[in-house]
Amino acid sequence: MPPSLAVDLAPGHKTGLALRNPVMTASGTFSWGFEFAKQFDINALGAVVSKGVTIAPRAGNQQPRVAETPAGMLNSIGLQNVGLDEVITELAPKWAKWDVPVIVNVAGDTIDEFGEMAAALDGLPGIAALELNISCPNVDIGGIEIGQDPEASARATRAAVRNTDLPVIVKLTPNVTDPVKLALAVEAEGAAAICAINTVLGLAIDTKRRRPVLPRARGGLSGPAIKPVALRIVYDVAKAVRVPVIGCGGIRTGEDAIEFLMAGASAVQVGTATFADPRAPLDVLDGIEAWCAREGVEDLREIIGCALPAPV
Ligand code: FUM
Repeated sequence: MPPSLAVDLAPGHKTGLALRNPVMTASGTFSWGFEFAKQFDINALGAVVSKGVTIAPRAGNQQPRVAETPAGMLNSIGLQNVGLDEVITELAPKWAKWDVPVIVNVAGDTIDEFGEMAAALDGLPGIAALELNISCPNVDIGGIEIGQDPEASARATRAAVRNTDLPVIVKLTPNVTDPVKLALAVEAEGAAAICAINTVLGLAIDTKRRRPVLPRARGGLSGPAIKPVALRIVYDVAKAVRVPVIGCGGIRTGEDAIEFLMAGASAVQVGTATFADPRAPLDVLDGIEAWCAREGVEDLREIIGCALPAPV
């Protein structure tokens, strides 16, 4: 018997968010999914998460936008995207033909924009949930400007939750002293699940030019370099909240994913690994299945949070 890998990321919510397995893509690393759907059966994934969407289309930041680092990469894309109208009229109808939940990552410039976008996406066939991007480090307004402040994070969550029946996932920044405060603030406003983490602020210097590599100097670090940071935050957040936590940060293998699940994540997002190998999310899934078979785990839920301290 293959192990049961199904998870629900919004158990108390009216629609729920049922995934056939816990392997999701990470926003910004999978575009809108269509190129990947030509490479493999996209319906084998647990869920697809879109690139961050803003109300108006965006061209993104000046080049170069990426820099390779030891065990990872820096990005400063600047939320390049097609804009909300195209998502609604062109992309969602295509997603509706897939048999995999698609979660739209929404990036408001302001608190009110989170409400506006949630209302516009509410009830559209092809969209299973929203992921609030209050953690992009590469824009001047919105992003971590909101997500580093628990009160602003709570208000953005409230604005979205009040304007949609879709489950609202909130993606946290690690670039704060205490991510647990953010998690508790957004949970209190109705977040159905919490995704931890977005990228870690970093910098690379071009020694020839004697300047930062990226035009905005700072960028977001992702890849295996941040896995221990992400695991620590998932562990701390999962101890504190009751809603499901989604782990994200440096996951490349089934074993990586199992670590996140044991630290309290109910699902995982595979991101930077996809740049090296578009099939990386499928390899992670195969690795989880092989691990469960080896360890005699019949239902993945047996191990979720097993490394957390016992409740007192
Ligand atoms: O620059 C970017 O588009 C990154 C987005 C994010 O980290 O959420």
